[in-house]
Amino acid sequence: MYRRPQLYDLAFGFRDIPAECSNLLTLAAGYGVRHPHTVLELACGPAHHLRELARAGLTCVGLDINSEMLGYARQLCKRDGVRVTLRRADMRTFTVEQRFDIVLCLFDSFAQCVTDRDGIETLRSAGAALRKGGLAFVEFTHPADYFGKGRSRTSERWTQGRGDERVSARFSLTRFDPIAETFVASLVIEPRRPNGKKTSGRASRRLAMRWPQHMWLRGGVQYVVEASGCFDIVGWHGDIDPILPLDMSERSWRMIAVLRKR
Ligand SMILES: C[S@@+](CC[C@H](N)C(=O)[O-])C[C@H]1O[C@@H](n2cnc3c(N)ncnc32)[C@H](O)[C@@H]1O
Repeated sequence: MYRRPQLYDLAFGFRDIPAECSNLLTLAAGYGVRHPHTVLELACGPAHHLRELARAGLTCVGLDINSEMLGYARQLCKRDGVRVTLRRADMRTFTVEQRFDIVLCLFDSFAQCVTDRDGIETLRSAGAALRKGGLAFVEFTHPADYFGKGRSRTSERWTQGRGDERVSARFSLTRFDPIAETFVASLVIEPRRPNGKKTSGRASRRLAMRWPQHMWLRGGVQYVVEASGCFDIVGWHGDIDPILPLDMSERSWRMIAVLRKR
Protein backbone atom coordinates (compact mmCIF):
# COMPACT_ATOMS: atom_id res chain seq x y z
CA MET A 1 0.00 0.00 0.00
CA TYR A 2 2.71 2.45 1.00
CA ARG A 3 4.39 1.86 -2.36
CA ARG A 4 1.47 3.73 -3.96
CA PRO A 5 1.35 6.61 -1.49
CA GLN A 6 -0.89 8.88 -3.57
CA LEU A 7 -3.65 6.31 -3.56
CA TYR A 8 -3.26 5.61 0.16
CA ASP A 9 -3.26 9.32 0.88
CA LEU A 10 -6.38 9.95 -1.18
CA ALA A 11 -8.27 7.16 0.60
CA PHE A 12 -7.26 8.41 4.05
CA GLY A 13 -7.60 12.10 3.25
CA PHE A 14 -10.50 12.66 5.66
CA ARG A 15 -8.61 14.16 8.62
CA ASP A 16 -8.70 17.87 9.39
CA ILE A 17 -4.93 18.32 9.72
CA PRO A 18 -4.85 22.05 10.67
CA ALA A 19 -7.41 21.41 13.44
CA GLU A 20 -5.50 18.35 14.67
CA CYS A 21 -2.24 20.34 14.79
CA SER A 22 -3.83 23.23 16.62
CA ASN A 23 -5.31 20.76 19.14
CA LEU A 24 -1.95 19.01 19.51
CA LEU A 25 -0.33 22.31 20.46
CA THR A 26 -3.15 23.08 22.93
CA LEU A 27 -2.76 19.60 24.43
CA ALA A 28 1.02 20.03 24.67
CA ALA A 29 0.58 23.36 26.48
CA GLY A 30 -1.88 21.70 28.87
CA TYR A 31 0.72 19.04 29.68
CA GLY A 32 3.46 21.61 30.28
CA VAL A 33 5.13 22.06 26.88
CA ARG A 34 3.93 25.58 26.19
CA HIS A 35 6.20 26.75 23.39
CA PRO A 36 7.55 23.71 21.56
CA HIS A 37 10.26 24.39 18.99
CA THR A 38 10.97 20.91 17.71
CA VAL A 39 8.80 17.96 16.66
CA LEU A 40 9.75 14.47 15.55
CA GLU A 41 7.17 12.21 13.91
CA LEU A 42 7.70 8.44 13.80
CA ALA A 43 6.21 6.57 10.84
CA CYS A 44 5.35 9.99 9.42
CA GLY A 45 3.94 8.75 6.08
CA PRO A 46 3.02 11.79 3.94
CA ALA A 47 4.04 14.08 6.84
CA HIS A 48 0.84 16.15 6.77
CA HIS A 49 1.10 17.18 10.43
CA LEU A 50 4.77 18.04 10.09
CA ARG A 51 4.13 20.33 7.10
CA GLU A 52 1.41 22.10 9.04
CA LEU A 53 3.61 22.46 12.15
CA ALA A 54 6.56 23.64 10.04
CA ARG A 55 4.30 26.36 8.62
CA ALA A 56 3.65 27.43 12.22
CA GLY A 57 7.41 27.88 12.69
CA LEU A 58 8.42 24.59 14.36
CA THR A 59 11.49 22.62 13.31
CA CYS A 60 10.14 19.30 12.06
CA VAL A 61 11.74 15.94 11.41
CA GLY A 62 9.93 12.87 10.07
CA LEU A 63 11.04 9.24 9.98
CA ASP A 64 9.49 6.48 7.93
CA ILE A 65 10.62 3.03 6.89
CA ASN A 66 9.26 3.30 3.37
CA SER A 67 11.25 5.21 0.76
CA GLU A 68 8.32 5.66 -1.66
CA MET A 69 6.30 7.24 1.13
CA LEU A 70 9.22 9.53 2.00
CA GLY A 71 9.55 10.47 -1.68
CA TYR A 72 5.87 11.41 -1.69
CA ALA A 73 6.27 13.43 1.54
CA ARG A 74 9.21 15.30 -0.06
CA GLN A 75 7.09 16.13 -3.13
CA LEU A 76 4.36 17.57 -0.86
CA CYS A 77 6.92 19.65 1.08
CA LYS A 78 8.28 21.01 -2.20
CA ARG A 79 4.79 21.74 -3.50
CA ASP A 80 3.97 23.68 -0.32
CA GLY A 81 7.39 25.38 -0.02
CA VAL A 82 7.79 23.95 3.48
CA ARG A 83 10.96 22.60 5.08
CA VAL A 84 10.71 19.27 6.88
CA THR A 85 13.71 16.98 7.35
CA LEU A 86 12.75 13.48 6.23
CA ARG A 87 14.80 10.38 6.91
CA ARG A 88 14.40 6.68 6.26
CA ALA A 89 14.47 4.84 9.56
CA ASP A 90 12.76 2.11 11.53
CA MET A 91 10.87 3.55 14.49
CA ARG A 92 12.16 0.69 16.68
CA THR A 93 15.86 1.25 16.11
CA PHE A 94 16.42 4.88 15.03
CA THR A 95 18.73 7.31 16.79
CA VAL A 96 18.88 11.09 16.43
CA GLU A 97 21.41 13.59 17.74
CA GLN A 98 18.88 16.31 18.55
CA ARG A 99 16.56 16.29 21.59
CA PHE A 100 12.96 17.14 20.68
CA ASP A 101 10.13 18.82 22.60
CA ILE A 102 7.44 16.58 21.07
CA VAL A 103 7.33 13.14 19.44
CA LEU A 104 4.28 12.07 17.43
CA CYS A 105 3.22 8.60 16.36
CA LEU A 106 -0.19 9.05 14.73
CA PHE A 107 -2.93 7.17 12.86
CA ASP A 108 -2.29 3.88 14.62
CA SER A 109 1.21 3.59 13.18
CA PHE A 110 2.29 2.18 16.56
CA ALA A 111 0.12 -0.88 15.81
CA GLN A 112 2.83 -1.89 13.35
CA CYS A 113 4.80 -2.69 16.48
CA VAL A 114 3.40 -6.21 16.46
CA THR A 115 5.02 -7.48 19.66
CA ASP A 116 5.62 -6.05 23.12
CA ARG A 117 9.33 -6.02 22.29
CA ASP A 118 8.68 -3.84 19.19
CA GLY A 119 6.62 -1.49 21.33
CA ILE A 120 9.25 -1.23 24.06
CA GLU A 121 12.05 -0.65 21.54
CA THR A 122 10.06 2.08 19.80
CA LEU A 123 9.33 3.80 23.11
CA ARG A 124 12.99 3.60 24.14
CA SER A 125 14.07 5.14 20.83
CA ALA A 126 11.39 7.83 21.20
CA GLY A 127 12.43 8.45 24.81
CA ALA A 128 16.05 8.91 23.80
CA ALA A 129 14.97 11.47 21.20
CA LEU A 130 13.00 13.60 23.70
CA ARG A 131 14.24 16.14 26.20
CA LYS A 132 13.29 15.62 29.84
CA GLY A 133 9.66 16.67 30.30
CA GLY A 134 9.05 16.39 26.54
CA LEU A 135 5.84 14.75 25.37
CA ALA A 136 4.98 11.84 23.10
CA PHE A 137 1.49 11.65 21.59
CA VAL A 138 0.64 8.14 20.44
CA GLU A 139 -2.58 7.42 18.58
CA PHE A 140 -4.24 3.99 18.70
CA THR A 141 -7.46 2.47 17.40
CA HIS A 142 -10.27 2.93 19.95
CA PRO A 143 -10.43 -0.35 21.97
CA ALA A 144 -14.17 -0.70 21.31
CA ASP A 145 -13.39 -1.23 17.62
CA TYR A 146 -12.03 -4.68 18.48
CA PHE A 147 -15.10 -5.98 20.27
CA GLY A 148 -18.62 -7.07 19.50
CA LYS A 149 -21.32 -6.09 17.12
CA GLY A 150 -21.38 -2.72 15.42
CA ARG A 151 -17.75 -2.87 16.30
CA SER A 152 -16.22 -0.01 14.45
CA ARG A 153 -16.37 3.66 15.35
CA THR A 154 -14.57 4.24 12.07
CA SER A 155 -16.10 3.39 8.68
CA GLU A 156 -15.29 0.10 7.08
CA ARG A 157 -16.30 1.27 3.58
CA TRP A 158 -16.09 4.77 2.27
CA THR A 159 -15.37 6.86 -0.80
CA GLN A 160 -13.05 9.79 -0.76
CA GLY A 161 -12.14 12.33 -3.42
CA ARG A 162 -10.00 15.32 -4.20
CA GLY A 163 -10.62 17.32 -7.39
CA ASP A 164 -11.27 14.83 -10.19
CA GLU A 165 -9.68 11.93 -8.32
CA ARG A 166 -11.89 9.52 -6.44
CA VAL A 167 -11.37 6.20 -4.67
CA SER A 168 -13.54 3.70 -2.88
CA ALA A 169 -11.93 1.98 0.10
CA ARG A 170 -12.71 -1.03 2.25
CA PHE A 171 -10.87 -1.63 5.52
CA SER A 172 -11.42 -4.66 7.68
CA LEU A 173 -9.80 -6.44 10.61
CA THR A 174 -9.37 -10.18 10.01
CA ARG A 175 -7.69 -13.23 11.57
CA PHE A 176 -7.87 -12.11 15.17
CA ASP A 177 -5.40 -13.93 17.40
CA PRO A 178 -6.50 -13.31 20.99
CA ILE A 179 -3.39 -15.00 22.39
CA ALA A 180 -0.86 -12.96 20.44
CA GLU A 181 -3.26 -9.95 20.56
CA THR A 182 -2.77 -9.44 16.84
CA PHE A 183 -4.94 -9.29 13.75
CA VAL A 184 -4.47 -8.87 10.04
CA ALA A 185 -5.64 -5.57 8.63
CA SER A 186 -7.05 -5.79 5.13
CA LEU A 187 -7.38 -2.78 2.84
CA VAL A 188 -8.71 -2.55 -0.70
CA ILE A 189 -8.59 0.76 -2.56
CA GLU A 190 -10.16 1.15 -6.00
CA PRO A 191 -9.75 4.24 -8.15
CA ARG A 192 -13.13 5.53 -9.45
CA ARG A 193 -14.31 8.05 -11.98
CA PRO A 194 -15.99 11.19 -10.59
CA ASN A 195 -19.32 9.52 -11.55
CA GLY A 196 -18.44 6.57 -9.27
CA LYS A 197 -17.68 4.08 -12.11
CA LYS A 198 -14.52 1.97 -12.14
CA THR A 199 -11.59 3.35 -14.13
CA SER A 200 -9.35 1.43 -16.54
CA GLY A 201 -5.60 1.47 -17.35
CA ARG A 202 -2.47 0.84 -15.31
CA ALA A 203 -2.72 3.81 -12.95
CA SER A 204 -6.21 2.71 -12.02
CA ARG A 205 -5.18 -0.72 -10.76
CA ARG A 206 -7.00 -1.81 -7.64
CA LEU A 207 -4.76 -1.92 -4.62
CA ALA A 208 -5.19 -4.73 -2.10
CA MET A 209 -3.03 -5.28 0.92
CA ARG A 210 -2.94 -7.21 4.18
CA TRP A 211 -0.55 -6.61 7.04
CA PRO A 212 -0.23 -7.69 10.67
CA GLN A 213 -1.01 -5.29 13.50
CA HIS A 214 -1.05 -5.46 17.26
CA MET A 215 -4.31 -4.89 19.11
CA TRP A 216 -3.06 -2.28 21.58
CA LEU A 217 -5.42 -1.92 24.52
CA ARG A 218 -4.84 0.27 27.55
CA GLY A 219 -3.27 -2.47 29.68
CA GLY A 220 -0.78 -3.41 26.96
CA VAL A 221 0.13 0.24 26.41
CA GLN A 222 0.65 0.71 30.16
CA TYR A 223 2.85 -2.38 30.26
CA VAL A 224 5.18 -1.37 27.40
CA VAL A 225 5.41 2.23 28.61
CA GLU A 226 6.41 1.04 32.09
CA ALA A 227 8.81 -1.55 30.68
CA SER A 228 10.49 1.09 28.48
CA GLY A 229 11.52 2.92 31.65
CA CYS A 230 11.41 6.25 29.78
CA PHE A 231 7.94 7.68 30.28
CA ASP A 232 5.01 8.34 32.57
CA ILE A 233 1.53 8.21 31.05
CA VAL A 234 0.01 11.60 31.87
CA GLY A 235 -3.22 11.51 29.85
CA TRP A 236 -5.68 9.57 27.73
CA HIS A 237 -7.98 11.25 25.21
CA GLY A 238 -10.75 10.03 22.91
CA ASP A 239 -9.58 12.23 20.02
CA ILE A 240 -6.81 14.73 19.36
CA ASP A 241 -8.87 17.04 21.49
CA PRO A 242 -7.95 18.59 24.84
CA ILE A 243 -11.39 18.13 26.37
CA LEU A 244 -12.64 14.85 24.97
CA PRO A 245 -11.98 12.00 27.42
CA LEU A 246 -11.29 8.42 26.36
CA ASP A 247 -14.62 6.74 27.03
CA MET A 248 -17.38 4.78 25.28
CA SER A 249 -19.21 7.80 23.85
CA GLU A 250 -19.54 8.00 20.06
CA ARG A 251 -17.37 11.10 19.92
CA SER A 252 -14.50 9.27 21.55
CA TRP A 253 -13.39 7.47 18.35
CA ARG A 254 -9.68 6.87 18.84
CA MET A 255 -7.29 6.40 21.76
CA ILE A 256 -4.60 9.01 22.32
CA ALA A 257 -1.99 8.35 25.00
CA VAL A 258 0.07 11.28 26.23
CA LEU A 259 3.47 10.24 27.59
CA ARG A 260 5.92 12.47 29.46
CA LYS A 261 9.67 11.78 29.27
CA ARG A 262 11.15 11.10 32.70
C1 LIG B 1 -0.92 4.50 8.56
S1 LIG B 1 0.56 5.26 7.91
C2 LIG B 1 0.52 6.67 8.96
C3 LIG B 1 1.27 7.86 8.47
C4 LIG B 1 1.26 9.07 9.40
N1 LIG B 1 1.60 8.73 10.78
C5 LIG B 1 -0.06 9.81 9.38
O1 LIG B 1 -0.62 10.12 10.45
O2 LIG B 1 -0.54 10.12 8.28
C6 LIG B 1 1.77 4.22 8.61
C7 LIG B 1 3.21 4.53 8.20
O3 LIG B 1 4.07 3.73 9.02
C8 LIG B 1 5.24 3.42 8.27
N2 LIG B 1 5.91 2.34 9.00
C9 LIG B 1 5.49 1.06 9.16
N3 LIG B 1 6.35 0.38 9.93
C10 LIG B 1 7.35 1.26 10.28
C11 LIG B 1 8.52 1.16 11.09
N4 LIG B 1 8.85 0.03 11.69
N5 LIG B 1 9.28 2.27 11.23
C12 LIG B 1 8.96 3.43 10.62
N6 LIG B 1 7.86 3.58 9.83
C13 LIG B 1 7.06 2.51 9.67
C14 LIG B 1 4.69 3.11 6.90
O4 LIG B 1 5.68 3.17 5.91
C15 LIG B 1 3.60 4.20 6.76
O5 LIG B 1 4.09 5.34 6.10
